[in-house]
Amino acid sequence: MLLLSIESSCDDSAIALTEIDSRKLILHKKISQEIEHARYGGVVPELASRLHAVDLPKLLESALPWFKEITAVAVTNEPGLAVTLNEGVMMAKAFATFQKVPLIPVHHLKGHIYSLFIEKPTRLPMLVILISGGHTMVLRVLGLQEMEVLATSMDDSVGESYDKVAKMMGLGYPGGPIVEALAREGDPDRFELPVPLRNSPLIAFSLSGLKNAVRLTVEKLGGPDKMSEQDRRDLAAAFQKALITHLIQKIRKILARESIPDVALVGGASANLAIREAFDSLCREYGKRLHTAPLEFCADNAAMIGRYGLDALAEGLTCSPEEITVSANRKLQPGMKL
Ligand code: KG4
Ligand code: ZN
Repeated sequence: MLLLSIESSCDDSAIALTEIDSRKLILHKKISQEIEHARYGGVVPELASRLHAVDLPKLLESALPWFKEITAVAVTNEPGLAVTLNEGVMMAKAFATFQKVPLIPVHHLKGHIYSLFIEKPTRLPMLVILISGGHTMVLRVLGLQEMEVLATSMDDSVGESYDKVAKMMGLGYPGGPIVEALAREGDPDRFELPVPLRNSPLIAFSLSGLKNAVRLTVEKLGGPDKMSEQDRRDLAAAFQKALITHLIQKIRKILARESIPDVALVGGASANLAIREAFDSLCREYGKRLHTAPLEFCADNAAMIGRYGLDALAEGLTCSPEEITVSANRKLQPGMKL
């Protein structure tokens, strides 16, 4: 018995097949639209939706040999871009109707959390730091349906700020891996950038001020075309240093008060090795264990949607094709449940 899972919340079309009893991944494939969106410096929703309409059926075709063994379909139905979520949900609905199998609606952020458990048993409770292109938050995760937001970003997300900094320096999209690679070679102390909310007692994140400080520095250097390779490396290093200092300062306060011993870092930006190392030392300082997903499952993928789907299926959290709905972004605040 296999679970088919589908992801299309942003700019990656992905499907996976997971064995329901053993949790083994049978197939996982993804077609990324990064190149198509790169020339616009960010995701263009209508273009993304059109590309999903082309790529999702191609991916589904690769699962054809297993069609008869599929007994449930999990699909991301929130949050994300409504026009792209719709593409995956429509394909899941058509498949579920035709094959007469149940649907499992999956919250994309819960999927990122379950990327920790791909081909592994579920291990909860956990304090989860989620840093992606769309979100930055800390959650107390006790169970499948017990996830509470403890802190969020008041403006840009971590991934988004890397993307914007890359764009300001005239680099490509997505900016995360490019800025991280530059930062590794740069001097983080050449430019002094402000650590956000440094003197505020708020346990929240804010990255737009730091982004503006990067913009002003680029302008002072004469714009992206006048910057030398060393300027780019040093500015990337200074940006990343201020961002990490900010994340650590705020999350330290949460670790100090929460008794849960397991901490996890998930989401596309959790692939960043400098961020991983900083959280590894922080966790050791507080006697906590840091968990991360394998690098290939940090960014959007369908394996994590399937892994959440397995636990949801076991709890009977299924619906019919008529019942599933799509919802785009809703502002998450501390105290809210996912
Ligand atoms: O989780 P994800 O694939 O999509 C969302 O759900 O948003 O995350 C994509 C984001 C992009 O903003 C990308 O720049 C960022 O993750 N990212 C990184 C790194 N790799 C990807 N950010 C910082 N450092 C990286 N190495
Ligand atoms: Zn994501």
